[in-house]
Amino acid sequence: MEKPIKFAMLGSGTVGTGVIKVLQENAREIAKRIGAPLELKKVLVRDLDRKRPHLEGLALTDRIEDILEDDEISVVVEVMGGIHPAREYMLRAMEAGKSVVTANKDVVAQFGKEMFDMSEKRNVDFLFEASVGGGIPIITPLKQCLTANKITEVMGIVNGTTNYMLTKMTECGAEYDAVLKEAQEKGYAEANPSADVDGLDAARKAAILASLAFNTRVQLDDVSVEGITKITPTDIEYASTLGYAVKLLAVGKDSPEKGVDVRVHPVFLPKSHPLASVNGVFNAIFVRGNAIGEAMFYGPGAGSLPTASAVVSDVIDAARDIVHEAFGRIRCTCYGQKKLCPLDDTESSYYVRLLVDDKPGVLGMIATAFGKEGVSLKSVVQTKRSVANHAEIVAITHTVEHRKILNALRILEGLPVVDEIRNMIRVENDRG
Ligand code: NAP
Ligand code: HSE
Repeated sequence: MEKPIKFAMLGSGTVGTGVIKVLQENAREIAKRIGAPLELKKVLVRDLDRKRPHLEGLALTDRIEDILEDDEISVVVEVMGGIHPAREYMLRAMEAGKSVVTANKDVVAQFGKEMFDMSEKRNVDFLFEASVGGGIPIITPLKQCLTANKITEVMGIVNGTTNYMLTKMTECGAEYDAVLKEAQEKGYAEANPSADVDGLDAARKAAILASLAFNTRVQLDDVSVEGITKITPTDIEYASTLGYAVKLLAVGKDSPEKGVDVRVHPVFLPKSHPLASVNGVFNAIFVRGNAIGEAMFYGPGAGSLPTASAVVSDVIDAARDIVHEAFGRIRCTCYGQKKLCPLDDTESSYYVRLLVDDKPGVLGMIATAFGKEGVSLKSVVQTKRSVANHAEIVAITHTVEHRKILNALRILEGLPVVDEIRNMIRVENDRG
């Protein structure tokens, strides 16, 4: 056996605690797999006076220099979260010749290039498996196991909080506000739930997934984002009746004609699609490649031990590279400079729910308004939801460019028989 590989950890909250547990429980197997024992030498904390029973026996410091200047430490694990000072600490660690492992999607999504540039300059590893999908292996599969493919689509349920909320709304017919409160009580949603419910957390993960899948740098600002706040139990009921599940999806597509299209929004997804049956806090990522066909990666997208599973696996990977002196084997894979598809040019089917006057000829006027903009309707349903001479109509369109559906909605808004456009949601992977 080689001498121990020593690492340091920045932060010791939910994920950091999991890392310590995994190391304690699996130390012997991990040592055999690396060919050397793994030793957590120092932990960076903010406040040395705070009691931390889970860190008993470990060397704590509140000075990053104690870690950066320690030549015995060859790997730094960043599980503090946030952008500053996490970004600077990781850059400084790599500059000092240490490999870096992180779970931090914020930094990877916004500063991925800078991180990779530094890792290449100093010939060290920069690994971030836990940044998307928590414990689900997806970064390594995209960078290594699927690298023989041309990937044309990567689609995922990458936010557990919103998937839990949509699942509850579907199962119980509950209102958005009630399920949000429940998600907060269970500790899934933060007191300020915006990053989850407005889609920003998923957008960061979408940028990372698309960059890896399509070998081109996709920045957070390139992702068009819509959250789940506009979803009502009525939309979910219609979806179910029409054969769909409602999901918040991170969607990435790459086509030679349109370019790279990356977005996060709620969708109607056919119940037969593998992602439609991913419920509760679980995550899943669906990949389409020209050799593998379709593949789906499913599992716990967050949580102390599942996320630590990914973090510790990256540490083992970095440690193996140290043992075999093989650093930086898999470098930045964003070598392409593909054009991005503007939102207006993206294509999808749409669900449109309207409140209209309940009188003869109205359906014809609506179909004409859609037709004027080249929007072809796949189905139109009018249900029992009629109130005082008004009727609720739901239309599902065939695939159409986003700009055309927006133009059609503008025309519809101007029709005297249209009282209200109640919702518009994309229908993804509809083969009809
Ligand atoms: P957390 O529970 O809030 O823990 C963060 C820890 O970092 C705390 O112990 C905090 O110290 C410490 N910290 C923050 N700033 C620091 C600083 N400047 N110096 C020293 N220590 C500092 O967060 P977490 O849930 O473990 O998440 C960590 C990272 O993993 C984030 O990037 C997150 O997005 C990612 N992640 C988390 C999950 C999950 O399930 N939780 C899943 C996937 C990815 P104090 O105790 O003093 O506040
Ligand atoms: N807030 C995220 C979620 C977990 O709800 O899935 C951390 O990425």
